[in-house]
Order: sequence, then structure tokens, then C-alpha cells
Amino acid sequence: MNNFDYYNPTHIVFGQDRLAELDQLIPADAKVMITFGGQSAKKYGTIDTVRASLGHRDIIEFGGIEPNPQYTTLLNAIEIVKTENVDFLLAVGGGSVMDGTKFIALAAKHPSEDYHELLFHGFNPVPANDAITLGCVATLPATGSEMNMGGVITFKEQKYPFMSPLVFPKFSVLDPDLTKTLPKEQIANGVADAFVHVIEQYLTQPVNAKVQDRIGEGVLKTLIEDGPVTYADNDDIDARKNFIWSATNALNGIIGAGVPQDWSTHMIGHEMTAQFGIAHGRTLAIILPNVLRERKEHKRAKLLQFSERVWDITEGTDDEKIDLAIDKTEAFFNSLDIVTNLTHYGIDDAGIDSVVVNMEKMGLTALSETGDLTLDIVRKILTATR
Ligand code: NZQ
Ligand code: ZN
Repeated sequence: MNNFDYYNPTHIVFGQDRLAELDQLIPADAKVMITFGGQSAKKYGTIDTVRASLGHRDIIEFGGIEPNPQYTTLLNAIEIVKTENVDFLLAVGGGSVMDGTKFIALAAKHPSEDYHELLFHGFNPVPANDAITLGCVATLPATGSEMNMGGVITFKEQKYPFMSPLVFPKFSVLDPDLTKTLPKEQIANGVADAFVHVIEQYLTQPVNAKVQDRIGEGVLKTLIEDGPVTYADNDDIDARKNFIWSATNALNGIIGAGVPQDWSTHMIGHEMTAQFGIAHGRTLAIILPNVLRERKEHKRAKLLQFSERVWDITEGTDDEKIDLAIDKTEAFFNSLDIVTNLTHYGIDDAGIDSVVVNMEKMGLTALSETGDLTLDIVRKILTATR
């Protein structure tokens, strides 16, 4: 196991009927901006319940944060936060709203108005000294944003990740009932996103990190068990709770502590979302199977472990076990009605070219846990996924 620091200050408030506790979670004298997305939080009454819980606090609402949140939309919120002296941000929504709110929190305290400077630091923490405190009411289990220090913002039609310990949510309310209004495809996307978050941190090079591996395997097995139940049955609250907690644990830092991390599937996926508008989780499910096939030798030891411990494959040669595990992974995504070929999404050779060209422009030329996944390999992966 490699050296690591592990820090996670987010208070998780998990379970049904807990929104009233927002009153205790947010300072009584706070000036609060509630941020939300297009319409779901309003339409299904979550904003009303949240407002009622906040009593007489001074509240501003900022809606309209779109999926893959746009820098230009967030600028309007930053302006209001600064002029109105907002001192608490409450994100009510999925990953896009939570990430957008994290960006608002940092930008509002940024010394210049060139807020985009916060976006060019990749997976290193942004150089920032202050941020507005934020909390979340998470309505979509997928990204883990409710319990991590990262976000992803779209700036000039490219997706940029940013990280800062200043934007760990102070708390996140995870109420399974709030997720029951999700369209089915968002459940499927969420299962795929959480699954691939574990894979990016677990299916790399072995460093004998037994706790991280076994937590990762537990999360994957739970997603395999309860993802499809949640997808098929809106009323199975036990399965839903397990799916939600899996998604949070998939990217709250615990699995990734002290282990090599890959993130190639995410980097290719981000480019596909930016160019073709395919939802984040879905891009990952499309790409992952061929990343694993292409990297079979490179990831051989962990692929075998994944096969035996996650898919319980005990028969056959090592090669057969690995191939079957990858096929089962792809079939799992397909069982959630996620089609895993590019043609279905209208992406042809020219589309593959433009993904590769843009990744080069973004400097994404040496991906993976060992930095040896080149753009030639990206092209092979995408071509195999046609
Ligand atoms: O905008 P509204 O009307 O609210 O609708 C949203 C949106 O259209 C809807 N929705 C959310 N909760 C709902 C609901 N509809 C009905 N009932 C509910 N309870 O779902 C749609 C998608 O929402 P979005 O927030 O975009 O989805 P998700 O949570 O998958 O977030 C995706 C974003 O997170 C980033 C992605 O790149 C993408 O921008 N990621 C963030 C990460 C992080 N912070 O750590 C890591 C991830 O790998 C990912 O990159
Ligand atoms: Zn993701």
C-alpha cells in the first residue's frame, strides 16, 4: 500500500424524512442561497420542503444549473452571492448542481474575476485559500460529489475537473425518497457512474491494499445486486438505500487512498459528453469494456481478482476468467438498457477523430495509472467500441 492522507469532513445525514433537520445543520443567522437545476427540485416539491425547514432565514434561490454545468450560468450566481453577501450555499440536486455550487463557493472568494483560473489544475487542488461553506441535499446517486472535494465544470465546451478540500460539503442529506422521481435512465447512469468510479481506483496495479480492495469489491457487488432492483422497482426502498450508499462510497476517497488510480475511462467519457452530449455515466459504460479488453495484459493481476471476487468466476483458465468478467460487466450495463456501441449514438470515424484531436488539445495524452495510455490506444479503444 502506498503512503496516503485521508481526510473527509462531510457529515452524512442518511435516511427518510430528515429534511427538517436542515434547520439544525445550517447556522441560524446564515444568508442562504439555494441552488438547483432545471425543474425537478421545484416540480417535485423539494425546494418547498427545504424552504419550510429553513424557517425565517434570509433565502435566495438560484435555479437553472444545467446538466454538465456551464461556467456562464454559474457566473450569474457568483455575482449574486457577492452582491448579496450570501454566506451559505445549499445545493439541491444531482452531481451537476452540487459541482456547480462547489465552483460558486470557490469563485465567490477568488481574488480576481478570472474564475476560470480555478479550472486548469487537473486533479491537483486549486490554489485557493477560502470558499463559502456549502451543504447538499443530494437527489441523484451517481457522482459521489455529496461526499468529496471535486467537481466538473463545462468551460468553452470542454469539461474541466477541479479539486479543493475547501469544497467538501459541510453536510449532505441523502434521503432515498427524493430519488424516487428520477427517470429510469438516470438510475442506470448513476449505477454505471458509481461502478466505474470503483473500477478506476480498484482495477489498476496491485499494491496489496486489502481494505481498499475489499471495500471496492463490496461496493461493486452491491451495485450489481441492488442497481438492477432499483432500476426495475421504484418501491424497493432497501435496495435504493444500498444503491445510494454505494454511489457515495464509490467516490468519497476511501477506496482510492494509497492505491494507483486510472481515470482513463473518465477522461475519454468527458470528451464524449462535451462533444456529443451523452450523459456522463452512460459514456463510461460505453467505453469501459474496451478499455479493459485493451488493457488486459497491463491490468492482468487485478482483472483476475475482479473476475474471481466480484463476478465469482472460479472455472476456466486465467484468460477465460478475465474475458468472461469483462463480458459480464458489459452485459450488466446492457441489462440496464445502456447500449455499449458508438454507432448507436451516431458516432462514426470522424467522431472518433474529433474525440482524439480534442483530447490532444486538452493535453490528455498520457492517461492511466501508469501514464502510458496514449492517444493511439484511445483510438484503438474507440474503434473497437464502434
Ligand atoms: O435539472 P433537473 O430538472 O433537476 O433534472 C436533473 C437532470 O436533468 C435530473 N434530476 C436530478 N435529480 C432528480 C432529477 N430528476 C428527477 N428527480 C430527481 N430526484 O437528472 C438530470 C441529470 O442530473 P445531473 O446532476 O447532471 O446528473 P449526475 O448526478 O449524473 O451529475 C453529472 C455531472 O457530475 C459530473 C459529471 O461530469 C457531470 O457534469 N461528475 C462529478 C464528479 C464529482 N463531483 O466527483 C465525478 C463524476 O465522475 C462526474 O464527472
Ligand atoms: Zn463519474
